[in-house]
Amino acid sequence: MEQNLRVPGPTPLPSEVREAQARPMINHRGPEFGQMQHAIADGIASLIGTSGEVLLLTGSGSGALEAAIVNSLSPGDRVLAVTIGAFGDRFADIGAAFGADVERLAFDWGTAADPDALRAHLADAAPYRAVLLTHNETSTGVTNPIRELAAVVRGAPGDPLVIVDGISGLGAVAFEMDGWGIDLVVSASQKAWMGSPGIAIASLSERAWRANAAARMPRYYWDLALARTWAAKGQTPWTPAVSVLYGLEVGVRRLLAEGREWTWARHAAVASGVQAGLEALGFRLVAAPADRSHTVTAAWLSDGLDWATFNAAMRQRGLVVAGGQGAWSGKILRFGHMGEVGYDEMADAFGIMGDVLSVDGDAAAAAGRAAYEASLAPVPAR
Ligand SMILES: Cc1ncc(COP(=O)(O)O)c(C=O)c1O
Repeated sequence: MEQNLRVPGPTPLPSEVREAQARPMINHRGPEFGQMQHAIADGIASLIGTSGEVLLLTGSGSGALEAAIVNSLSPGDRVLAVTIGAFGDRFADIGAAFGADVERLAFDWGTAADPDALRAHLADAAPYRAVLLTHNETSTGVTNPIRELAAVVRGAPGDPLVIVDGISGLGAVAFEMDGWGIDLVVSASQKAWMGSPGIAIASLSERAWRANAAARMPRYYWDLALARTWAAKGQTPWTPAVSVLYGLEVGVRRLLAEGREWTWARHAAVASGVQAGLEALGFRLVAAPADRSHTVTAAWLSDGLDWATFNAAMRQRGLVVAGGQGAWSGKILRFGHMGEVGYDEMADAFGIMGDVLSVDGDAAAAAGRAAYEASLAPVPAR
């Protein structure tokens, strides 16, 4: 039985991606590799709104977070980590692990960071070298107002670097690296990019490259200046995950063909459908409407609904969703909808959930579809 994989990454792969990944190996120091690397990097650059270069490194998203830290900071640097959930905390922990003087500005889980509160904090505190932000907090299903937050940081004393974990939002949710003054952003292949896990994605502004030249945190595998030198030659410093790149090339090509505004609108519409469908099943959503993510939706497990039992029954019927992380383990479910998503897979999932919960899953699927279609309707046809 094929699973309906509704975790927030890895995401289901289009068959075209899977077929590409089965291609024969090539020399990673040969011309074919260079062409592929350029095609992927240039495609991602245009999708995230930067005229700068995009680096492709072999590793997971957490590796990309580590790369962001060690390539821009020195031990003892004052860093503000704006955290709204488990991944914001992880970013802060990585900074601390490499010797940054990390302060946290934590907002309640399930809410977005408030730009006014950030402004007030920055006005009162000694200058920071960098501010760490999360674009889309996968642990709580919340998207931050990253444009507003970045604007606040860029006007703050000391003009801190704006460093963004864009792992589960980039590609699917509006993002303008250059236009919004972002200095460094990272992502990972297994999210909206429709690739398998294994490729970390990073892009740096000119300001971030200058910071990189002065940064003294220890780095070797994740040396982005080295990666940049090799990328100019169409190569990577170390042997890359070639097969994952084959698939990622297809994923990026599909996103480019769709057009990023359309991709963003599709994700918004699917998210509306998921929100309405889960509510029709009787779930209460975690985030307030304005904060809700377009790539992952979190809902409270109602009293008496045991996660392990509920999850096992869904899995038995081929539906795989994610549970809560950390303090929210056993309290919420998380439903992923990024990458290759339309509404039909969501409708199937609601049918299964209705069956498990003994409520009308078809009615929930229909409610979700109506919300999806209403959200999609205003999008101009291509
Ligand atoms: C926002 C965010 N940051 C970081 C990570 C960590 O990425 P990885 O699991 O690929 O190391 C994830 C993974 O879900 C994420 O969603």
